[in-house]
Amino acid sequence: MLDLIIQGGSIVNADAIIKTDIAVQDGRIVSLGDAALLGRAKRVINAAGQYVLPGLIDMHTHFEAPFMGCRGALDFYSGSVAGAFGGVTTFIDFTNTRPGDSVLARVKERREEMAKAVIDYSTHAKFVEANPQVIAEIPAIVEYGCSSIKLFMTYRKEGVMIEDDGMLAVLEAARKWGALPGVHAESNAIAEFHIERQRAKGELDWIDFPKAKPPLCEEEAVRRAILLAEAAGSPLYIFHLTSRRGLETVRQSRLRGCPVYAETCPHYLVLTQEMYRQEEGYRYIMSPPLRDTDDCQALWTGLGQDVLVVSSDDCTYTLAEKTMFLPQDETGGRRDFTKVVNGVPGIETRLPLLLEEGVQQGRLTLQQLVAVASANPAKLFGLYPEKGVLQPGSLADMVLVDLAQTGTIQADRLHQGIDYSVYEGKKVTGWPTMTIARGKVIVEDGNFVGVRGAGQFVRRKPFAANR
Ligand code: URP
Ligand code: ZN
Ligand code: ZN
Repeated sequence: MLDLIIQGGSIVNADAIIKTDIAVQDGRIVSLGDAALLGRAKRVINAAGQYVLPGLIDMHTHFEAPFMGCRGALDFYSGSVAGAFGGVTTFIDFTNTRPGDSVLARVKERREEMAKAVIDYSTHAKFVEANPQVIAEIPAIVEYGCSSIKLFMTYRKEGVMIEDDGMLAVLEAARKWGALPGVHAESNAIAEFHIERQRAKGELDWIDFPKAKPPLCEEEAVRRAILLAEAAGSPLYIFHLTSRRGLETVRQSRLRGCPVYAETCPHYLVLTQEMYRQEEGYRYIMSPPLRDTDDCQALWTGLGQDVLVVSSDDCTYTLAEKTMFLPQDETGGRRDFTKVVNGVPGIETRLPLLLEEGVQQGRLTLQQLVAVASANPAKLFGLYPEKGVLQPGSLADMVLVDLAQTGTIQADRLHQGIDYSVYEGKKVTGWPTMTIARGKVIVEDGNFVGVRGAGQFVRRKPFAANR
């Protein structure tokens, strides 16, 4: 007897949409075909009129990650539950490495912290320095199943930035051992140069934030990272790309044959720097900053042309945390973007936003959505074809989508328990109706029905093996 049949839906893979039924046994898809021929099952889910997508992969989250003096609002349980409501069945977070740490020890510690997650998980290994001890750990980290590395090119004051010579050493070892290195690409020098001058002129209001870190600041770091990767013979992944200039730099390097990949995030596709004009503009402080509509358009084109993938960069703080370091005066508070912790929520809203702004607006097909939010991330991060595709032998990670269901994004109807959403009031057509992880239904009828700790640590293959 099968565990599950999903009947009557259309399955969406990156290369095709097929109207067929799915048979699941022991957490895996065992066959596709007409339900009448698949055999009997303990449960049959009627997916008529719906699309069945591979579970989304979120390769950029920050749960249990203290930053800029704030604790962060989500842990691996609450963050992963929110992800489940957004159709996410696998997420990749980051180690909380500090100078002097063993990165391998941080990877193992992170795995333990993540064990409360309700969906599958992994971590990128963050390197904040490149001493011989941590470089020597890279083969063991890859062997452990974490075949990707995170490097910050900014946040020197926060103690996590790596210098260029350190980057080169990490990139060289990454190439040798099969890890994909990824960068937060912003020029620390340009950002600090601007902030110092803006401070002198009293220009630290929310609306001044994007001026401190303009597209030029991103382009300089993207260009430098690509050239350093080229020097080391390494592939490169760029986290949260935001600008046309950054994207063009990536595109040119790919035309030269460099193995350079990049992601963007829904907020850079959907919101613009006009948000910083709001009284509550501090809610939108994240790095890099929001850009112009022209940049949004360029990013949508990059997605449609397979140059980009999409993560959430979920880095959730409560409003109290966002405002806790603002200088107070007799009128109740003063604006200073340098005092606002960077980051916004997003793991739950990525899929509805891609459905509305991508599919409904004709910028992405459903297949392209699967490519940018599931299949290509799975390939890049060593998870394919276990994940990222619906085919016999793959894990039964799925999200059902009703393209006709309408919804409104409201903080109090999301599942992060956070007092705001940067998309508050946004109307969306197309909504995830059910999430299935390893063959078990975990979100159904608007309720979480999964189990704390049911997620598994996924051992990811080395980078070279899956290209
Ligand atoms: O503002 C952001 N993105 N906060 C999270 C940390 C990072 O830089 O990704
Ligand atoms: Zn970043
Ligand atoms: Zn991030």
